[in-house]
Amino acid sequence: MGHRYHGRMTQALASECERRVVAIDGPVASGKTAVGRALAQRLGWRLFDTGIMYRAATWKAQRHAVHLDEHETVTDLIGASDFQLVPCPDRNSTELEVHVDGENATPHLRESAVESGVPTVAAIAEVRRLMVRIQQQQAAQGCMIVVGRDIGTVVLPDAPVKIFLEASEEVRARRRAAEQHNGDDEQAVLVATRRRDARDRGRETSPLIAAADAVVLDTSNLTLEESIDEAERIVRRQMPELAEPGRAIPPARG
Ligand code: DC
Repeated sequence: MGHRYHGRMTQALASECERRVVAIDGPVASGKTAVGRALAQRLGWRLFDTGIMYRAATWKAQRHAVHLDEHETVTDLIGASDFQLVPCPDRNSTELEVHVDGENATPHLRESAVESGVPTVAAIAEVRRLMVRIQQQQAAQGCMIVVGRDIGTVVLPDAPVKIFLEASEEVRARRRAAEQHNGDDEQAVLVATRRRDARDRGRETSPLIAAADAVVLDTSNLTLEESIDEAERIVRRQMPELAEPGRAIPPARG
């Protein structure tokens, strides 16, 4: 990672790269971020986990002590804020940081206040409109794995590869409980997972749903490694230019 385009190659590589986006959607703890991250590493692309934008918007609103249910105030604040996606300074990372009005929001995105507030902010139609526009601009760079809930349906309906990751509620609750290390038992996590699912799938704007042309990959009975391998197979099958193993792929920009 960390390569940059040079000299005469720039144009050709850039246009070759632009068409290269993979949309990954799925419910909480379906493994989409882990699979997306590994795919980005294998292909030498960038990972754009769009959840960071809704998290950053939530962080910003909370910092300004805006009540998250006041949709208009939240929308006005977010609309007046500058969101920048910046390649992570760690050269080995494929990920992006999110900066809001020049301040790096990334370290705050997993704080519990953000965690609990983000579904409310992500359900505001106007906020989504603003975020989707930025996401589309970012994805236009290409050579990118874009992860979220509405990527294949709303953000990048023309993405050449769309993967919808699924896993049973029980499996996802088990994965989350193992990840969180906060003492919550599996049953409590299962209840929270169900609640979060209902919110993501039932919201009026951009509910979580597989695009008609997405490949649904159920990871309930797969290890993470198997899920990654399967996702890579799907990508290489649908992008014939990537089919040849070991072929050099243009690196992500930035
Ligand atoms: O994937 P995550 O947990 O970081 O997502 C945080 C919240 O943002 C979650 O409530 C789902 C929402 N989200 C969304 O509505 N659309 C996206 N494209 C990405 C995330």
